[in-house]
Amino acid sequence: MRWAVLVGGTGSNLRALLESGFPVALVISHRASVKALEVARDHNVPERVILPKAYSDRAQYDAALASGLEALGIEAIAMAGFLRWLGSDLTRRYHGTIVNLHPSLLPAYPGLHAIERAYDDGVLWSGVSVHFVDEGHDTGPLIAQVPVPRLVSDTLEDFAARIQAAEHQLYPRVIAAIDGGQVQLVGNRVVYEGGEQKWMHGHF
Ligand code: GRF
Repeated sequence: MRWAVLVGGTGSNLRALLESGFPVALVISHRASVKALEVARDHNVPERVILPKAYSDRAQYDAALASGLEALGIEAIAMAGFLRWLGSDLTRRYHGTIVNLHPSLLPAYPGLHAIERAYDDGVLWSGVSVHFVDEGHDTGPLIAQVPVPRLVSDTLEDFAARIQAAEHQLYPRVIAAIDGGQVQLVGNRVVYEGGEQKWMHGHF
């Protein structure tokens, strides 16, 4: 499958994916001058910036995204720091081949600043979720979750770094499994070839 990665931040997950040897056909960012674009350039991956403010409404923005994806024959999408909600046309078109990474154990802490909110609440465990994208916000069938502890001595930075390290381990595994057909969305149910997978609970 030809994969696009949608970014908007530091690109550490894009980097982890590329360093795992996974081929990425296109990187799209909703922000200019972000580190993620440098990561794409460093790995010779075609990159495009599609700025929301250049479009009059969300439908037009989504149409621009769709044509950018179609132009390179993109069949699957991994979201990694792209802070725009996709419209239903796109989520329907890529049903079962669009995934998102979120830094909490969903359905806890959906939305922005999930790490900070969990830290401030004093949770003892949070983690990382990967799910198929549907029309909701940080909803959609869960594919894998990794629990991450918040230690007594943790600063917010320590806790965030532990969560990010879990993301970097998990996301490439999930994407490779979907690409290889070992994970599929059938209706609204995630089906794993051969049943239980070690990595779906964070065992590698
Ligand atoms: C990750 O924490 C991911 O969970 C969230 O956005 C962040 C992207 O980080 N959706 P990076 O740009 O991959 O470093």
